[in-house]
Amino acid sequence: MFTVNDNYLKLPGSYLFSTIGKKVAAFKEANPDKTVISLGIGDVTRPLTSSVIKALHSAVDEMASADTFKGYSPDLGYLFLREAIRDNDYKSRGVDIDVDEIFVSDGAKSDSGNIQEIFGADNKIAVCDPVYPVYVDSNVMSGRAGIYNPETERFSDVIYMPCTKDTNFAPEIPSETPDIIYLCFPNNPTGSTIKKDELQKWVDYANKVGACIIYDAAYEAFITEDDVPHSIYECEGAKTCAIEIRSFSKNAGFTGTRLGFTVVPKELKSKDTSLNPLWARRHGTKFNGAPYIIQAAGAAIYSDEGKAEIKELIGYYQENQKVILDGLKSAGYEVSGGVNAPYIWLKTPDNVKSWDFFDTLLNEANVVGTPGSGFGPSGEGYFRLTAFGTHEATKEAIERIKRL
Ligand SMILES: Cc1ncc(COP(=O)(O)O)c(C=O)c1O
Repeated sequence: MFTVNDNYLKLPGSYLFSTIGKKVAAFKEANPDKTVISLGIGDVTRPLTSSVIKALHSAVDEMASADTFKGYSPDLGYLFLREAIRDNDYKSRGVDIDVDEIFVSDGAKSDSGNIQEIFGADNKIAVCDPVYPVYVDSNVMSGRAGIYNPETERFSDVIYMPCTKDTNFAPEIPSETPDIIYLCFPNNPTGSTIKKDELQKWVDYANKVGACIIYDAAYEAFITEDDVPHSIYECEGAKTCAIEIRSFSKNAGFTGTRLGFTVVPKELKSKDTSLNPLWARRHGTKFNGAPYIIQAAGAAIYSDEGKAEIKELIGYYQENQKVILDGLKSAGYEVSGGVNAPYIWLKTPDNVKSWDFFDTLLNEANVVGTPGSGFGPSGEGYFRLTAFGTHEATKEAIERIKRL
């Protein structure tokens, strides 16, 4: 008789977005005359930009002719895209990354979930609390997290780094030494970030204790402040201790189009073993490449026209960030995030529980957000709003919250 990977049975149910969906559906059924506005899920609403659409059309046409048709993509991704990434995302910031250190993929979720495969089964991970759940869940699936305690909402073998108001919503170096440290800046869900000198401390720490930082920079394009690093490789010594994951989802609207990449520097080693060939092997064995047409579309964001469009696209959501931040502040709410990130982290009034605030907002303002407690116990008493809605819906939602 076959058996199952019983690590999967250790996962607590993922009720967050399904519970939200059920509550919203029930409310809509009972109140068909009400319009519900969602600032809940971190999905974009603006269409792909015109140079991306043009590149898609032309790549589709190439697929229609035997002369230009493309089959499997090269293992690491097309060189034209990896060169554009190297030049625009790294060289332009004074960072030297080789094209064979860049691995093109179908997005940051798969990469951030899969990357743990190249690490030893006994490695100990450290994560922020609250956290993007993929980092923990993928380690649970591979047996690295221990046992879940429903009372503490924590796994026995995971090091949690609380990110609270007291820590400025950033993690502190943990007392127990981890082997793998997941950092995500700008952060989902808190919208916080850290300055370059603070990130440098993490890099120095990781190099000192022999840990690897997995740096998720999916929201890098939303950074507005000069002293906030766009890449961990802006820090000295990061190439010997960090992997960086990026996405085309939030900067270019590729959530449904799917494209991302991971940088694994050749200098990153465990004793004498370099991680770059391990990830290359994993990529070659288990992944057959992002589609040519999508990689061609991704490269279009690095053209002059593409860059201008992306700036405008991000600017659109940044206007929403400001509407949410300013509106909530003027209504007396305690808010953070929203400056270098499309997420606004709101303290619930009177220490109301996150889910109770969710119900109040849904029932009385007909606005949907995400309870902070759904991202980890340190998120209790907080609430996440996203800036990915339309201008009209965002303004209307904030007016409704102000009237509460
Ligand atoms: C921190 C973080 N990383 C990765 C992702 C997923 O990105 P992608 O769409 O490229 O899979 C998300 C999506 O919400 C995210 O918040």
